[in-house]
Amino acid sequence: MHHRILATAILCVVLATVQVSAWSFATWDFPEIVIKLGDNSYLDRAKRFLKKHPLTDTHNDWPLYLSFTKEGKINNLDLNDLDEGHTDITRLHAGGVGGQFWSIYYPCELKDDNQMLWAIHAIDTTKRMIAKYPDVFEYVTTTEGFKQAMQQGRIASMLGMEGGQYIYNSASALRTFYDLGVRYMTLTHNCDTDWAISCCDPNPPPFDASLGLTEFGQKLVLEMNRLGMLVDISHVAHSTMHAVLNITKAPVLFSHSSSNALCGIERNVPDAVLERLDETDGVVQVNFYNRFVECDYPDTPATVNTVADHVEHIAAVAGRHRVGLGADYNGIDVAPEGLEDVSKYPNLFAELLRRGWSEEELQGLAYGNLLRVWQKAEKISSTLAETELPMEDLYEPIKDV
Ligand SMILES: *[C@@H]1O[C@H](CO)[C@@H](O)[C@H](O)[C@H]1NC(C)=O
Ligand SMILES: [Zn+2]
Repeated sequence: MHHRILATAILCVVLATVQVSAWSFATWDFPEIVIKLGDNSYLDRAKRFLKKHPLTDTHNDWPLYLSFTKEGKINNLDLNDLDEGHTDITRLHAGGVGGQFWSIYYPCELKDDNQMLWAIHAIDTTKRMIAKYPDVFEYVTTTEGFKQAMQQGRIASMLGMEGGQYIYNSASALRTFYDLGVRYMTLTHNCDTDWAISCCDPNPPPFDASLGLTEFGQKLVLEMNRLGMLVDISHVAHSTMHAVLNITKAPVLFSHSSSNALCGIERNVPDAVLERLDETDGVVQVNFYNRFVECDYPDTPATVNTVADHVEHIAAVAGRHRVGLGADYNGIDVAPEGLEDVSKYPNLFAELLRRGWSEEELQGLAYGNLLRVWQKAEKISSTLAETELPMEDLYEPIKDV
């Protein structure tokens, strides 16, 4: 920890020195150097902005590292500085992170394993991680709690569950995960469930894929609305995105998805869906993964500029108030140049400042757009709770495929 702080201090001194000399160069009209120093000043502005308005990211797979790579043995693990992965406490602070949805994930492809048990294991490890550093993290399940944690300078820590397979076609399990603190569920990971189609399952679909959701799946979405669990439609097929938009009463969330127009994989959000975000007041949190933002990777490198292009495309189609960040750190094998780990978010904010984003728009990107969506989902939940009874249907397989 100390060497990093020292290095930062030295870097600041160097930057300050360079800027002083820049000033004198600038008066002598030295164009190239002025441009370069201009970029430094965007980064300074971005860092100052994030000190005032720390960002919330909606998808980080650190729980995967803690609960599986480290087998949940975190009691004697110093989480301030880690030599592996994209995330540790020092780097979260350097990156201006003020809120995080920690991703509860286990590979859906391992169908013989007890998915529910692994999810519980990851939830427990994540809660112990939060409790181990009470000055750093605060466990949060409501938007009120989120705002309080931010005010106290702690990293608001929420749980998001990546895949519908963990609930084993059971509304009881869904509700119990809500009680465990899960505040979004991605309807599928890369495997179809019996009731929702994934972007990326190589097996034959369990029902007509163009429907996106079965009737049971539709009821689960409405049950999530009633509970106040955000419906996350990252990872699902485009048909499922439309099916959810057709039925949901609360805003949709894309917890970690990029633009299909810029990189045409099913995993990314098509413009036709971006154009429908107004219907539910939804938000897309941009995924940084090289292979999702640059389809030609590795022949063409992915950089901070590539990610900024995705942010701007989604904003151009859906509005700057409908985009946020869900980088997917610790869930990806490589990250773009300039966005190598969680300490590098300021580079993206600097680039967007350079492209003319106002501080108000950046505040939306940092957390405001997500907060609006989450608050609305809470409000709809409390209204629905007055009129709607809990879902009691048991799953019934569709027999005619
Ligand atoms: C969504 O609703 C539209 C309009 O009713 C319909 O044409 C479309 O098939 C529906 N899509 C899905 C996937 O359910
Ligand atoms: Zn994912």
